[in-house]
Amino acid sequence: MTTEAVVTGWGFYVPPKVLTNADLETIVDTTDAWIYERTGIRERHIVEGDEVTSVMATKAAKEALARAGVRGEDLDAIVVATTSPDYLLPTAACLVQESLAARRAAVFDLGAACAGFIYGLAVSRGLILSGTARKILLVGAETISRFLDWNDRATCVLFGDGAGAVVIEASTAGAGIRSTALHGDGTKKAHLRLEGGGSLHPPMGRGSEGASYYIQMDGPEVFKLAVPAMADATREALGQAGLRLEDVDLFIPHQANARIIDAVAKRLGLDRSKVFVDIDRFGNTSAASIPIALCDALSRGRVRQGDTLAFAAFGGGMTWGAAIVEWSASAS
Ligand code: ACO
Repeated sequence: MTTEAVVTGWGFYVPPKVLTNADLETIVDTTDAWIYERTGIRERHIVEGDEVTSVMATKAAKEALARAGVRGEDLDAIVVATTSPDYLLPTAACLVQESLAARRAAVFDLGAACAGFIYGLAVSRGLILSGTARKILLVGAETISRFLDWNDRATCVLFGDGAGAVVIEASTAGAGIRSTALHGDGTKKAHLRLEGGGSLHPPMGRGSEGASYYIQMDGPEVFKLAVPAMADATREALGQAGLRLEDVDLFIPHQANARIIDAVAKRLGLDRSKVFVDIDRFGNTSAASIPIALCDALSRGRVRQGDTLAFAAFGGGMTWGAAIVEWSASAS
C-alpha cells in the first residue's frame, strides 16, 4: 500500500488583544472605511509582552497534537515556518521542541515569508514519502507586529499576529497532501523587505546605520505580482495532482488582502462560494494565515471528509506556491 502524508491534527492560537480599525484611526492617519475597502480587514490580534512566536506556536501545536492523539515525544520533526522568530538563534522550532518535550524530533525553522506554510507542506510531505519521518509538526507562526513601523499607515494596518499548526503523519489510509508547486524570484526582492537585524545590518555596531528595522513594502507592486502567481501555482499544483479546477471543494488562500483573493478567484474562474476568507478578523498573519484559516474553515463545517482543498500563497522574497490536499483526517 502506498504511504501518503496526511493531516491528522490541527490547531491555532491568536493573542487576546484585538486591534480594530477604529483603534488604528487613533494611531495613524487612516480610516476604518479605507482599510476595509482596500483590504477587507476589520481587526487583527496583536501580541503583548513575551507572548511571541514560539509561545503562540506551542499553544497552536498543543491543540493540533491533542486532536491527532500524538505526544511531543512521538514527533520525528518540528518545522516552524516564520519570518519573525523569537531569536536569530536558537530557532523557534527549538523553543517549541523544548516546550513540547519532543526529544526525538529534528527541528528547524523555514523562511519563505507568507508562503512558508505551503513550503512547509512540501518539505513535510518529502520527509514522509522518503521515509525520513512518520510524524511531523508543521507550524506557521508570526509576530509581525514587532517589525512594523507604527507611523507607516501603508503597512501597519495590514498585519496581525498568530499561529496555526498541523500534525502530518505517514498513512496508508488516506490521500493527504497530493501535490505542491513552489516558486521564488529574488530579482523582485525590493518590493517587500526587512533589512535590519541580519548579518549585513546587525542590530548594533558596524552596518546598523541607515538600515530599516521595519517591514517596507511597495503594496501595489506586490498586489500585481501576487495575483497571477497564486493563480498559476494553483493550476500547476492541480495539474500535478491530476485534478481540475472543478474538483476543488474549498480554496483556502493566504489571507493578505481580500481584493487579492477576489482577483485570484476571478482569474481561476472559481465560484466565490468555494473561497474561504477570514482576513476580516485576523489581518495578514503571514505564514500563519493558511493554517489559521484551515482551522477556522474546519470549525465552521466548511471542510468535509474527502474534500479536495487548494491552498495558495505569495510573500516576500518573492516566494509563492500552492498545495492540493485531499482531506482525510485519519492515520493508520
Ligand atoms: N489609510 C489611508 N490611506 C492610505 C493608507 C491607509 N492605511 N495607506 C495608504 N494610503 C494612501 C496612500 O498614501 C495613497 O495616497 P495618495 O494617492 O494620496 O498617494 C492612497 O492611499 C493609495 O495608495 P496605494 O498604495 O496605491 O493603495 P492600494 O489601493 O494599492 O492599497 C494596499 C494598498 C492595501 C497595501 C494594496 O496595495 C495591497 O494590498 N497590496 C498587496 C500587498 C500585501 O498584501 N502585502 C502583504 C504582505 S505580502 C503578502 O502577504 C502578499
